[in-house]
Amino acid sequence: MTVGYTIFILFVSLSLLGFLNGCNAHRLRYNFYKVTCPQANRIVKRIITNETRTNPALGAQLIRMQFHDCFVRGCDGSVLLDTVNNDSKAEKDAIPNRSLKGFDVIDDIKNAIEKVCPNVVSCADILALAARDAVSAPFKRRLWNVALGRRDGRISLASETNGNIPSPFADFTSLLQTFNNKTLDVNDLVVLSGAHTIGVAHCGTFSRRLYNFTGKGDADPTLDPTYADFLRKQCPNLANPKTIVEMDPGSSRSFDKHYYHILRQNKGLFISDAALLTNKESESIVIRLQRSRGLFFAAFARSMRKMAAIDVLTGKDGEIRRNCRVVNL
Ligand code: HEM
Repeated sequence: MTVGYTIFILFVSLSLLGFLNGCNAHRLRYNFYKVTCPQANRIVKRIITNETRTNPALGAQLIRMQFHDCFVRGCDGSVLLDTVNNDSKAEKDAIPNRSLKGFDVIDDIKNAIEKVCPNVVSCADILALAARDAVSAPFKRRLWNVALGRRDGRISLASETNGNIPSPFADFTSLLQTFNNKTLDVNDLVVLSGAHTIGVAHCGTFSRRLYNFTGKGDADPTLDPTYADFLRKQCPNLANPKTIVEMDPGSSRSFDKHYYHILRQNKGLFISDAALLTNKESESIVIRLQRSRGLFFAAFARSMRKMAAIDVLTGKDGEIRRNCRVVNL
């Protein structure tokens, strides 16, 4: 066998194994827009810093939007697309997405970036940067790094949220399966659920835990009874569908490990939060995150980088949308 032939065989084998694909330019990179739009990161940060002054809830709104984007068709900005044809509704009109907020801020950022570097920066990248900057705003430092180079998808279907966006009523097995399907593991599930340390929820996402849960007129026995009383006051039976409650009472504006503290007191709001204590491995991760000083921030940064890379479109796939709400003509 000649040296040339050996090299050829090696090349073909590596290609088949996907090694060369993984090593070429089609990976996300931190400095992706360094030459083509060096202002991009700064524009996102400026607009987000301004917006969070009047809307401190923006971090919670945008990180949830990014999570819902990444879990359906990967992080391709598909959640940002508007429905054009009522026969096939877009993702943002699916039930779990109807409470998403912050689309107008993404539009503002996109418009500002298009003015200086048209057709270069994807909506999917803008969402990833904006969510990071909005959650980081109170800290005056970046909580995680965002690799860039995602391209925007052209398809958005409400029906695809089924089975991809986890339900607040899901048990541990189902939650883990949903995360595993996205190449995320039990550690990512527990760590990313820590995002419930900020933000709010509508009564309908948990009130079945408060009333006649087992058919005997009782509340969910895994929910702290005093907390259940408190929640019943905020969410009477058949509550106003618009009523919202803090997910981490008293600490719902501060991004910290407090979520794990309340979880261990049986004050996790959703069945899916409480489910993290029903499995030995995930329970031990909860305990470690609660006890250890800096672990939550480091772990969250790591899991966010994994989540933000789910099934991304790169290279020549997809497109750079001109308007985040509609695909290019
Ligand atoms: C583990 C499975 C998860 C389930 C079942 C779940 C479910 C929910 C539900 C039902 C709400 C309340 C929505 C509303 O009523 O308006 C919510 C809110 C929220 N979720 Fe999750 N979630 C999960 C994981 C995540 C992850 C991975 C993140 C981010 C990394 C996240 C971030 C948030 C945030 C920040 C809010 C508050 C949004 C706001 O205040 O506008 N969640 N989640």
